Amino acid sequence: MASSLAAPEGAGLKLDIDGPVATITLHRPERRNAMTPSLWRGLAAIGDDLPPEVRVVVVRGDGPSFSAGIDLRLFTPEGIPGEELTSPSDPDFEDAVASYQAGYLWLRRPEIVSIAAVHGYAIGGGFQLALACDLRVCADDAIFCMKEPALGLVPDLTGTKPLVELVGLPRALEICLTARNIDAAEASALGLVQRVVPAADLDAAVAALAAGLCTAAADTARATKELLLGAPGRSLAEQSAAEIAMQARLQRSRGEDSPW
Ligand code: CAA
Repeated sequence: MASSLAAPEGAGLKLDIDGPVATITLHRPERRNAMTPSLWRGLAAIGDDLPPEVRVVVVRGDGPSFSAGIDLRLFTPEGIPGEELTSPSDPDFEDAVASYQAGYLWLRRPEIVSIAAVHGYAIGGGFQLALACDLRVCADDAIFCMKEPALGLVPDLTGTKPLVELVGLPRALEICLTARNIDAAEASALGLVQRVVPAADLDAAVAALAAGLCTAAADTARATKELLLGAPGRSLAEQSAAEIAMQARLQRSRGEDSPW
């Protein structure tokens, strides 16, 4: 059943909720879905209001590309009417960037699995949005680029940790400092994306993946994701203990529905 929850006005976003699957579409195709503070705050607002029945969140882009990253007009003296990028000289700078990051960070919540469906370019903040998702499926025309260092910026929209975790420190350093393009075949070989499909098949492949992710019961999926998310920070002994604790918690909470 479609939900009435709408994306915030003027954020350049669309939101469709169909049963357990929510689809967020970056919707400023004439600007290649370039990003603004309103868009980042809009993403955060969607995360805040997401109905509890949503199990999978798909993030995609309208038009020729997933996202060209930050709207570069924000760095010009003219700026963009109605949009303000807080300056590093402003005492609120840190809080402002944290509010932009909030639009990305909720995509890792254990109650949902997020999928970035990437086609065309995913540059800078767009690449980081794809990295913020749990899974990435891309079209064979996808190109990823961490452009920030070439512009005198560090990537600061939560992308550095997942990038290092996915490709390792040396490759992450090389990808960031060269700011080079990574095509779909290389992204697949590096483990940046889980699957590459012909561009025409992207939506269908993501829909099939979303359906597959919903086959496990919601409580089981959540507990499993929570367990896996904690694994990198734990020793084998700690993780093994966490498995026992999670099994006990899950089965006790399931009562009659436990397979025991
Ligand atoms: N900001 C503002 N406008 C953008 C834009 C951006 N990031 N990217 C594209 N556009 C606009 C273009 O200016 C153009 O507008 P007009 O039609 O008015 O001329 C329109 O979108 C279409 O662009 P192209 O003709 O260039 O489209 P393309 O499909 O041939 O190329 C592209 C796509 C490779 C993404 C290219 O547009 C491009 O290189 N864009 C800039 C990418 C960039 O450097 N982004 C900043 C990344 S750093 C970052 O994101 C930092 C952060 O998070 C804080």
